[in-house]
Amino acid sequence: MSLRVAVVGSGPAGIYTAEALVKQSAEPVEVDVLERLPTPYGLVRYGVAPDHTSIKSIANYLRKVLELPQVRFLGGVTLGSHLSVEDLLSCYDAVVYATGAMVDRRMGIPGEDLPGSVAATDFVNWYCGHPDVDPDRFVLDSPEIAVIGVGNVAVDVVRVLAKTAEELAATDVPHDVLERLGDSQVKAIHMIGRRGPEHAKFTLKELRELGELANADVCVRPDEAVVLGADFPRQIRGNIDVLQSWAARAPVGRPRRLDVRFWLRPVEILGADRVEGLKLERTRLEDGRVVGTGVYETLPVGMVLRSVGYQSVPLPGVPFDASTMTVPNQAGHVRGREYVSGWLKRGPTGVIGTNKSDAAETVRTLLSDLAGHDRVRPASLDDLLRSRGVEPVTYEQWRHIEAAEEALARTLGRGERVKLVGLDAMRDAFRGR
Ligand SMILES: Cc1cc2nc3c(=O)[nH]c(=O)nc-3n(C[C@H](O)[C@H](O)[C@H](O)COP(=O)(O)OP(=O)(O)OC[C@H]3O[C@@H](n4cnc5c(N)ncnc54)[C@H](O)[C@@H]3O)c2cc1C
Ligand SMILES: NC(=O)c1ccc[n+]([C@@H]2O[C@H](COP(=O)([O-])OP(=O)(O)OC[C@H]3O[C@@H](n4cnc5c(N)ncnc54)[C@H](OP(=O)(O)O)[C@@H]3O)[C@@H](O)[C@H]2O)c1
Repeated sequence: MSLRVAVVGSGPAGIYTAEALVKQSAEPVEVDVLERLPTPYGLVRYGVAPDHTSIKSIANYLRKVLELPQVRFLGGVTLGSHLSVEDLLSCYDAVVYATGAMVDRRMGIPGEDLPGSVAATDFVNWYCGHPDVDPDRFVLDSPEIAVIGVGNVAVDVVRVLAKTAEELAATDVPHDVLERLGDSQVKAIHMIGRRGPEHAKFTLKELRELGELANADVCVRPDEAVVLGADFPRQIRGNIDVLQSWAARAPVGRPRRLDVRFWLRPVEILGADRVEGLKLERTRLEDGRVVGTGVYETLPVGMVLRSVGYQSVPLPGVPFDASTMTVPNQAGHVRGREYVSGWLKRGPTGVIGTNKSDAAETVRTLLSDLAGHDRVRPASLDDLLRSRGVEPVTYEQWRHIEAAEEALARTLGRGERVKLVGLDAMRDAFRGR
């Protein structure tokens, strides 16, 4: 009898876990991949920037896993509302949690709740057409915007803000969002790092792309580009060289301007009813810690976008370590027949490929734990869902959503696909309306 495993979450971690489970030869395994959205691929669909089409095409690899005969996709099924951990354990020999990290971190400064102070998670969800965020959520009516953080998500966000709607027209950005981007009043974008160029988290390839923006001048202040020491790893040396080369060149009068700033930390978001400014304090390192110097400056921004990292949310009934915001585990094992993989396991860092080796570790642990054990699964998930009136979205229905998105792109004369927004539009697509 095959081992039956439920994988919760259909992002890279969930799908790589399913692949590693069915592609090993020690034991026949069948996998159900449960996903709260009607659509698979997690952040590959709702995180990776729309203009990074080659990275988005990783979905073509992930799709092949969902098409394997031993793998089944069940969309629109949420652990915590439709099903409990006990339900899953009664239907499967093992459960792997791979629900990622879907909420933002906060900075903990005054003014963070003012209208106009927003999380990159929301902004990314908006331009990616995530059903949790209304396409009307953002109006880019401020001439100046600050983006806090110098990681790769911040780079994605500033690039989308800097590009014209024409440059993004061939991407899958929802049409209403593209129109909002076309109406953008943004002239200046300030990207703020609280430490120096040598500490920035963005990677060289992503940084270089900012220097190729046709619609924006990229500016770095020479005094902020100074770096002490010379002995840096190649990637960091590359970042420093690029930033110093930008510091040495003058703007050429492109419509938008991107200021990449360092050694500044946000201390207060200013404004009475909405964001009217951002107060920053110059910083330095003391014993490796960022400390303020008591020297301040204020930027006249109407929007502050914090891109200071994602974090996982606890799953009901699943152990959670609030200090690391991850599920505590030993090489992927949580307890009993429960396992974890991906960002929920190790925190919100690492590229898509990192989740493959991470999933492989979890699967190794799972298979070695369950080898030779009796199969225990008295209940059937399909019966359980039916009794609760939950009708999962099948893989074929998801393919109808994809087809509708491709048809929409043809109708609008845009690229390969344009995202449908909202659960109703997706349901209409697979119900053929
Ligand atoms: C904005 C952004 C851009 C990125 N761009 C790149 C890039 O260009 N290149 C790159 O290599 N890496 C990129 N990354 C990193 C990459 O996306 C992650 O490494 C990867 O997605 C993590 O995989 P995951 O499966 O753990 O989480 P996720 O991809 O978040 O997948 C988790 C899935 O679980 C589902 N889920 C959540 N809760 C439940 C529940 N209760 N029940 C059922 N399902 C649930 C979610 O809907 C989601 O589909 C980016 C990350 C971000 C945040
Ligand atoms: N193209 C790609 O490959 C791509 C695209 C997007 C995302 N990703 C990956 O996804 C992961 C997540 O990316 P991310 O950008 O969200 O996270 P990240 O790489 O951890 O960057 C977070 C940034 O926020 C800063 N920060 C944190 N708290 C702050 C605070 N209170 N005030 C000011 N600044 C603060 C950090 O500065 P400190 O360093 O000082 O803490 C850092 O610059 C990364 O591994 C990334 O590489 C990859």
